[in-house]
Amino acid sequence: MRILLTAGPTREAIDPVRYLSNRSSGKMGYAIARAATQAGHDVVLISGPVCLAPPEKVEFVPVISADEMYEAVESEINKVDAAVFCAAVADYRPCMIESEKIKKSEDRLVIEMEKTRDILGSARSIMGFDGILVGFAAETRELEKYAREKMERKGCDLLVANDVSRSDIGFGSDQNEVKIFSRDSEDPLSLPTQSKDDIAKSLISLIEKQ
Ligand code: CTP
Repeated sequence: MRILLTAGPTREAIDPVRYLSNRSSGKMGYAIARAATQAGHDVVLISGPVCLAPPEKVEFVPVISADEMYEAVESEINKVDAAVFCAAVADYRPCMIESEKIKKSEDRLVIEMEKTRDILGSARSIMGFDGILVGFAAETRELEKYAREKMERKGCDLLVANDVSRSDIGFGSDQNEVKIFSRDSEDPLSLPTQSKDDIAKSLISLIEKQ
């Protein structure tokens, strides 16, 4: 199979020296890229800025902003059999990027933000992708309810959900604990705390079964 993966955070510029981003390390997405190549699949890894070396044998497409990630996905998605959206894409970005560095003046600074395009949510509806679609959901409460709702709304076959209110797993950690929801089954597959590499291997086998 040929698999597209998004990973890492995005950065949304405020001015030439500042940006807004999030705590995604890219570790989960890079682990999936490794597991997929080890299982013999071809991988296109579209990654936001992270401190990790791209895994061997992947086609690596580095991007910075949500908009760049959208365009990279759009140009690759209809050449793959499965697409896994692991990136922590910024949901909002500043409405305008100042061309000069913002100087300190007032005590308060208000930055107006606008929504970014939902890349996963556009995969079927706008980009016309008809392969296996896998989304991720980072939730702090009512995990099952929000995960199922997100899976339906974004047209996913599988959705990997984790509880980001816990500090021992998830962002930055080498371990994770997830529930994988599938369109075809009532009960999610619960993977107890384990390395992101092991979670990645289980996810790749589930994708192969789809
Ligand atoms: N995602 C994406 N493009 C965006 C935002 C999210 O591709 N602009 C993808 C992520 O890679 C992940 C899933 O969508 O697979 C996560 O969705 P999330 O941002 O949690 O969903 P929302 O619908 O924005 O819901 P929430 O209200 O929880 O933010």
